[in-house]
Amino acid sequence: MDRIRIVGGNKLSGSIPISGAKNAALPLMIASMLTDETLTLENVPHLADVEQLIRILGNHGVDYSVNGRRENQLGPYARTINFTAKNIVNTTAPYELVSKMRASFWVIGPLLARMGEARVSLPGGCAIGTRPVDLFIDGLQQLGAGIDVESGYVLARTKDRLIGNRYVFPKVSVGATHVLMMAASLARGETVLENAAREPEIADLATCLNAMGARIEGAGTRTITIDGVDRLHGAVHSVIPDRIETGTYAMAVAMAGGDVVLEGARAEFLEAALDVIRQTGAEVQPLNSGIRITRNGAGIAPVDVVTEPFPGFPTDLQAQFMGLMTMAKGRSKITETIFENRFMHVQELARLGAHISLSGQTAIVDGVKKLKGAPVMATDLRASVSLVIAGLAAEGETTVNRVYHLDRGFERLEEKLSGCGAVIERISG
Ligand code: UD1
Repeated sequence: MDRIRIVGGNKLSGSIPISGAKNAALPLMIASMLTDETLTLENVPHLADVEQLIRILGNHGVDYSVNGRRENQLGPYARTINFTAKNIVNTTAPYELVSKMRASFWVIGPLLARMGEARVSLPGGCAIGTRPVDLFIDGLQQLGAGIDVESGYVLARTKDRLIGNRYVFPKVSVGATHVLMMAASLARGETVLENAAREPEIADLATCLNAMGARIEGAGTRTITIDGVDRLHGAVHSVIPDRIETGTYAMAVAMAGGDVVLEGARAEFLEAALDVIRQTGAEVQPLNSGIRITRNGAGIAPVDVVTEPFPGFPTDLQAQFMGLMTMAKGRSKITETIFENRFMHVQELARLGAHISLSGQTAIVDGVKKLKGAPVMATDLRASVSLVIAGLAAEGETTVNRVYHLDRGFERLEEKLSGCGAVIERISG
């Protein structure tokens, strides 16, 4: 199994190209099932999760082809991929596939809307809490679907087409908003989604669906209105830059010190996080071409953070921020409100010398003067990268095991960081 070896202590300087957003690419790929024409997605990041979803979509009959350079010549940090769901050959998404990636449950929306039926495995347990699917079921029922849960599968059916309706989400959910938006695009009549998720990835999916012929207004706000159409067609769409990758590297610079331009990053996608990074003492300068992050000399100021749905501070940056706070000059409190049990990085950060105590959903971090490198491992994507951030500032050598978590969501992480002067390498085997 691959590991990442880091020797901490170097400042970061230079530039890092920001990849297309994983969390935008996944729903966009799933949306290709809504039409029998080709959906071309540009700026798709090369990640294990994307490859896994390609396999899952293939099971339903979606063909794909990658434009441009061949795999082993991949120079650019992006690919253009064509997805064609000419015929849906299978409306079942089996446990073996869905259990590997929770987002693959989202195929339930397009399958139901286009084929009138879907049989999708429950995603099952997950390392970061129970993550139920009640909102998906509830919302699809409001659009007229009949739903049964049997032997670990959600069976969804509709006699004719789905029927537009008003649905108020009892809780904000990114995935359920994506799915209801996709399903309602092909429903008969108008759907109004209230208390919808407002993440930039929701607006990106709506832009793509509209390019495919959907009539969606208000995506990115609390209320989304979808006027259903009979059919959708092909389109070309470019995936937005990854705000979580952006925030992660910004925090790496705030931690290790230095001066880095995050190329292609868009500040409006992560204002809350950038504001917090500023409060820690780093300089954040939005440019036309990206965002420049600088931290020289001065130490790291402690800042309290509470995770919230967009536009609040994202849960997907909570672990990385905790990594940064381990070396702050004082005490900070980090409260997780989105997922239970999303503190697995705490004990691993402690192996590097961090002082963190947990009180319910709040972590209390007492900054230390220095961290010391150690072997560590993590059980999820964002937790793993928090260990990389801490390792960049720790004295000596840190090895991060179970790198496959990082490969799910960070494209060429070691290449991007070593390009800025970090001592970081992948050790195979
Ligand atoms: C997405 C992101 C993930 C991010 C999360 C929150 C993708 C591929 N993943 O995940 O990286 O951490 O948003 O920003 O985009 N919930 C229910 N019932 C449901 C659905 C969700 O109770 O039917 C709960 C969840 O358990 C969680 C909260 O709602 O506590 C938010 O989850 P949700 O926004 O749905 O997260 P995902 O879409 O799975």
